[in-house]
Amino acid sequence: MSVNILKLNKPIWFMRQAGRHLPEYRKLRVKKESFLEFCFDFDCVVESSLQPIKRYDIDCAIVFSDILVIPYLLGQRVSFINGIGPSLEDLDIKDLLDLEQCDYKQEKLNNSYRAIKRIRSLLNKNKSLIGFCGAPWTVACYMIDGNSKGGFSLSKESIKKNKNYLDALLDNIADVSIEHLVKQYESGCDTLMIFESWAGLVDFKDKKDILYRPVEKIIQSLKKRKIKAPIIVFPKGLGTRITDYIKNVNADVLSIDYNIDINWILKNTRKDIVLQGNLNPELLVKGGKKLDEEVLKIKNIVGNRQHIFNLGHGLLPETPIKNVHRFIELIRRQ
Ligand code: CP3
Repeated sequence: MSVNILKLNKPIWFMRQAGRHLPEYRKLRVKKESFLEFCFDFDCVVESSLQPIKRYDIDCAIVFSDILVIPYLLGQRVSFINGIGPSLEDLDIKDLLDLEQCDYKQEKLNNSYRAIKRIRSLLNKNKSLIGFCGAPWTVACYMIDGNSKGGFSLSKESIKKNKNYLDALLDNIADVSIEHLVKQYESGCDTLMIFESWAGLVDFKDKKDILYRPVEKIIQSLKKRKIKAPIIVFPKGLGTRITDYIKNVNADVLSIDYNIDINWILKNTRKDIVLQGNLNPELLVKGGKKLDEEVLKIKNIVGNRQHIFNLGHGLLPETPIKNVHRFIELIRRQ
């Protein structure tokens, strides 16, 4: 029996903890030319997922993968361009609806699930293993716009002009994501996380159909299927609207971005919602006195309320290792 994140005392982990800030990751990464090839390689996934645990002895590992494996699985071409980011095949929203899951790509994803089994067997049973997916709207943004250069203008426009197609696309993505999360759970993940990085792009009036309903569908299906893993949601960029989000989306943990005042959110959310975050990742790059102050401030504010120490977004590639150690030391110090 392994733990899940809610059973740990003051757990620490970092979004994007595996990746370019680690020299051991950069060394491993060159073994594969493409990023997706790396994500589907059994040995690369096992090793990169465990690297942050070996270096920092933090409390959670997250499976090394990406939210864009879902469009890939659906047959849309996906590539990652160095220094630019993801680039997806240019398809009209109607064509996106015709995509179907490809068997030979599913086979590649099976390597991830086999890797999860192996990671779980190598990971101390007092550490949690997090599986994840992107929320349907965030994944749809990449599928519709192809990249983030234009601020996802086509996706935003589709809310106004192609609402029926968009609803159907969100529904399809939700269905594939449910299966993906179930498989990660069955392979050994004890905690599941849904990344909604582009929640902030949606007008408040469209929140129900675009943000809440697709994520609720995923969460309800997992609960119906007796998946016992706690579910973390990370709706980035909502500001004070985040309280409405968590009232409507039945998650166990709310991960908060660095623009949210943690003091305010503690007072404005139900006590049984566990919070995660919210240090600004820039502070971890700069380090020094300001880092100490802000980490201790969060530690003080949360006091005895259950909280998961993390950042308000992903760890930046230029983050010095010593600052990560400092963060951990400050949290763990009595
Ligand atoms: O350590 C971990 O957190 C686990 C692995 C993980 C990655 N991506 C690996 C990755 C996770 C959880 C993600 C989530 C993800 N991917 C999100 C949601 C969270 C967020 O950051 O807002 C999004 C929007 C993506 C899509 C994506 N993948 C982008 C925009 C990029 C390019 C930007 C960049 O940082 O380069 C990626 C590439 C990517 N995903 C890298 C890593 C380690 C960097 C590529 C490399 O190392 O070659």
